[in-house]
Amino acid sequence: MGRVGYNVLMQEDSFRLAVTKGAADHYAMISDVGELVEDQGQAVIKGFDAVVDWDKNDERLIVRFLKMDKKMGGKLGSLQFDLTGIDVKSGHGRSLKQPIAKAVGIKRGDAWRPKVLDCTAGLGEDGFLLAAFGCEVTLIEQHPLVYAMLRDAINKAGQGDEGLAEIVGRMDLRPGNAITTMRELESDAYDVVYLDPMYPEKKRHVSARTKKSIWFLRQLLGHDEADSDNTVGLFEQAIAVANKRVVVKRPNHAPPLINEAHKKPEASHKGKSFRFDVYPRH
Ligand SMILES: C[S@@+](CC[C@H](N)C(=O)[O-])C[C@H]1O[C@@H](n2cnc3c(N)ncnc32)[C@H](O)[C@@H]1O
Repeated sequence: MGRVGYNVLMQEDSFRLAVTKGAADHYAMISDVGELVEDQGQAVIKGFDAVVDWDKNDERLIVRFLKMDKKMGGKLGSLQFDLTGIDVKSGHGRSLKQPIAKAVGIKRGDAWRPKVLDCTAGLGEDGFLLAAFGCEVTLIEQHPLVYAMLRDAINKAGQGDEGLAEIVGRMDLRPGNAITTMRELESDAYDVVYLDPMYPEKKRHVSARTKKSIWFLRQLLGHDEADSDNTVGLFEQAIAVANKRVVVKRPNHAPPLINEAHKKPEASHKGKSFRFDVYPRH
């Protein structure tokens, strides 16, 4: 296509998203973006009235919606992932009382921090929060476009104030399928494996208030059933590699991801809408 920023190359029956200008080499790793099709010089997200574009001012990928779901207020708009708005400075934001901090095993008054493998990077928000608590976090994202947008958000946050730069300095984002990544890991590489698969949405929660980025992920990726190969594969590998525990984020209304006789969450740390189920390593 030859436009600034990215190229979509047709390769037999798949597409390759390659950023050609203004971005770092890691985009070369992005491949097989089956969801992008070329239409009149634009990379259109298939089945989804949106295009992937290059924001010249910000030097970042941007998704521009050509039509928006009525549930999202019907307004046109655009989307970039953003980590800079996450509260890690106020007393509440910093608080180690947050359920996610407790779930990964952080104790107040103890300087030890678990090394975390976040197998479902997504918008990077949970990984960022854990990094803000001082954890070294490796994040894996399987979807090329989500990976690219998160890479942008991490770079952008790294150019922010020193505090933000320090936090994202503890985040190591890698592309790929986390099940494969975990199979290739040295044993004891991570204390905690963190999973937050896409969950089915409760109908009454579909509202104009749904955050645009979450709505986007749902449209792009659908959701994982609790018994899908992905969910089961993630959990089984996670239990096999976590040095201390596996933490699974679930909406409060959903049952535990895995709740079999020999694999029940040992503890659950509840927040307002989500809880964090803890499965200790056997
Ligand atoms: C619900 S989102 C995660 C949101 C994230 N916890 C956050 O705070 O922004 C789930 C993400 O996990 C990714 N994912 C699901 N299964 C994966 C796998 N096997 N390997 C890598 N990424 C995966 C999806 O592509 C999606 O981006």
